[in-house]
Amino acid sequence: MKLCMATNNAHKIEEIRPLVPGTVGLVSLEEIGCREELPETGDTLEANSRQKAQYVWDHYGVNCFADDTGLEVEALGGEPGVYSARYAGPQRDARANMELLLRKLEGEENRRAQFRTTITLILDGQAYQFEGVVRGAILGAARGTGGFGYDPLFVPDGYARTFAEMDLAEKNKISHRARAVERLIRFLREREEESS
Ligand code: IMP
Repeated sequence: MKLCMATNNAHKIEEIRPLVPGTVGLVSLEEIGCREELPETGDTLEANSRQKAQYVWDHYGVNCFADDTGLEVEALGGEPGVYSARYAGPQRDARANMELLLRKLEGEENRRAQFRTTITLILDGQAYQFEGVVRGAILGAARGTGGFGYDPLFVPDGYARTFAEMDLAEKNKISHRARAVERLIRFLREREEESS
């Protein structure tokens, strides 16, 4: 089965490729001829991942999945959430986003937060959703140079280091995205076993 991962981030595809069952041929948006930007106008992670996957199915008729991730901070009622990438503005600047978050949390004792990833898979027009969460806390200042986005501010529960102070393999063992992908892969494997 051909399965499109609705992203143009080649790195994300290469990360997932070794995990999918042998009968699944993973392809990128480019490989199915989709070069336009996918619509992403929902106000939840679920709606956005669904919208992107649905777009690919409707316009290209290819089975596919799309992900959407946000950082949800308890003291801010779940902000920045679905707006994580453009929290400080449309320029999607990670440093500006972190500065804004720190300003909003100034003097706040509750530093609890979670990263949450939602994946929508569309198989033959039918949608399935998978979620991955990692809980932790937001520091008062950035630490570490690895990773991306809010990684320098986020310390996962049970660890003393931020995501930006971990190497990729270590982050990938516990990350929100890895957990959501794990559930997707389990689902695909089970379907394959049922049909063989
Ligand atoms: P996306 O849905 O994977 O594009 O993620 C949306 C935004 O959430 C990114 O632009 C980052 O600001 C933030 N984000 C997603 N995943 C991570 C992560 O693993 N670490 C830090 N920030 C992340």
